[in-house]
Amino acid sequence: MKIAVLAGDGIGPEIVAQAVRVLNVLRADGLPIELEHGLIGGCAVDATGEPYPEATHQLASAADAVLLGAVGGPQYDLLPRQQRPERGLLAIRKELSLFANLRPAILYPELANASSLKYDVVAGLDIMIVRELTGDIYFGEPRGIEMRDGQRVGYNTMVYNEAEIRRIAHVAFRAANKRQGKLCSVDKMNVLECTQLWRDVVTEVAKEYPQVMLSHMLVDNAAMQLVRYPKQFDVIVTGNMFGDILSDEASMLTGSIGMLPSASLDENNKGLYEPIHGSAPDLAGRDLANPLATILSVAMMMRYTFNQEDAARRIEDSVKKVLRSGVRTKDIVESNAKSVGTKAMGDAVLANL
Ligand code: IPM
Ligand code: MG
Repeated sequence: MKIAVLAGDGIGPEIVAQAVRVLNVLRADGLPIELEHGLIGGCAVDATGEPYPEATHQLASAADAVLLGAVGGPQYDLLPRQQRPERGLLAIRKELSLFANLRPAILYPELANASSLKYDVVAGLDIMIVRELTGDIYFGEPRGIEMRDGQRVGYNTMVYNEAEIRRIAHVAFRAANKRQGKLCSVDKMNVLECTQLWRDVVTEVAKEYPQVMLSHMLVDNAAMQLVRYPKQFDVIVTGNMFGDILSDEASMLTGSIGMLPSASLDENNKGLYEPIHGSAPDLAGRDLANPLATILSVAMMMRYTFNQEDAARRIEDSVKKVLRSGVRTKDIVESNAKSVGTKAMGDAVLANL
């Protein structure tokens, strides 16, 4: 179990440190875990001039899985686009063909009051967003900013070929099959040809999964339905751009973006695991960040890449116990209650592990 650890920037190193403690416990209990550390994002730019250096690419390619913290910070905002930390993230996803991004949004009952939505709307929420991660307007060519007729014009290209749509559709149908058997595909086919193709191909793939109930929804409606009646959803599948936006929205239903892990998988279940939140530069170095999303990302890694369902459950159960016992970081604490820091939250998880 070779794991490349890329802590990144901001709160990345602090939250990854707690997840590594969890991995060390699993190793002590017999899993053949090997960790190797590398640079990505702003810290990689500082050290090498590039957000995804060749050495990191070698390390990540040779590993079975990657554990990533977060990238980015205000000090990098003025760098040329190619050197921005976010480019490192986009590059590793693309270079490792991590096209299937799984973003679960689960509401832990103990945190129901941390959601900005009413208890009844979110209680029991369990959604899986399957986001395509290596195509769409994120990577489409041509792209750029240029002069046309004396004024600047900015443009990007939204593009999917049917093979790209088909493979993410299969991932989503399989996920729905293992869950409640409901899949909602999100597009904007009333305006965008690219997503008309999306809808056509998803509908074709559906023939292979007669036991899954497929529905389609336009993205604006989906954004609205997610806050109106989110429990209507089981699995949602959508493209890179819509998935970026809807997964942030879904995360907030659960109370805190600090709770949600993610997996980005290739065809062979090699994966990159990261919290869905960012580097939170304002919290960095202050022992304030919630490490649970990163710790839960290790659980997803055990489940999807290493097929260690027991280890995954063990981690998830410890997190549930910690929440039940009332230990809270600042992002999930109810007003006036006491909160603990990043390390103490790690201690609590380890004590229950
Ligand atoms: C995410 C992030 C990234 C994305 C950024 C940091 C490039 O928002 O993982 O959702 O847009 O994919
Ligand atoms: Mg995002």
